[in-house]
Amino acid sequence: MSLTVVGAAIINDRGQVLAAQRAEPDRLAGGWEFPGGKVEPGERDEAALVRECREELGVEVEVGERLGPDIPLALGRGVLRVWLARALGEPAALEHAALRWLDADSLDDVPWLPADAPLIEELRTRLQAV
Ligand code: C5P
Repeated sequence: MSLTVVGAAIINDRGQVLAAQRAEPDRLAGGWEFPGGKVEPGERDEAALVRECREELGVEVEVGERLGPDIPLALGRGVLRVWLARALGEPAALEHAALRWLDADSLDDVPWLPADAPLIEELRTRLQAV
C-alpha cells in the first residue's frame, strides 16, 4: 500500500517555523518533525493536513505553497509531502513531547527526522524572506 504522509511547515510573522518533537513510537521519539500524519483513503492531501494540525496542535491552519519535493520515507513505506502553512492561533503540544519556534539561524538546533531534514535548507531560505 502506498502511503502519503503530509506535513505542515507552520511559519509565523517573526520568521520562525514550528518544530514538533515526537513522543512516539520509540524509534522516532525525541526526533523533531513538521506536524502532520497519514492521508486517509479518499481524503485530499490539504484536508488531511488541516485535520492533523487540528488533532495534534489544536489550531486551524491555512495551507500555502509546497515546500520541496516528495521525500521517500524509510523502508519504502511511502512519501512525505510538506506545505508551508499559517496557524490561526497558538499551537499546543496535544500529542507531541514539545514544540519550539525556530528562526533561520536556529533550524539546526534540533535533530530533525531523516525524512524532514532534506527540507531544512529550502525552509531556511523561505524564513529569511519573511
Ligand atoms: O504522524 P504519523 O505517525 O501519522 O506519521 C506516520 C509516519 O510518517 C511516521 O512514523 C514517520 O515515520 C513519518 N513522518 C515523518 N515526518 C513527519 C511526519 C511523519 O517522517 N513530519
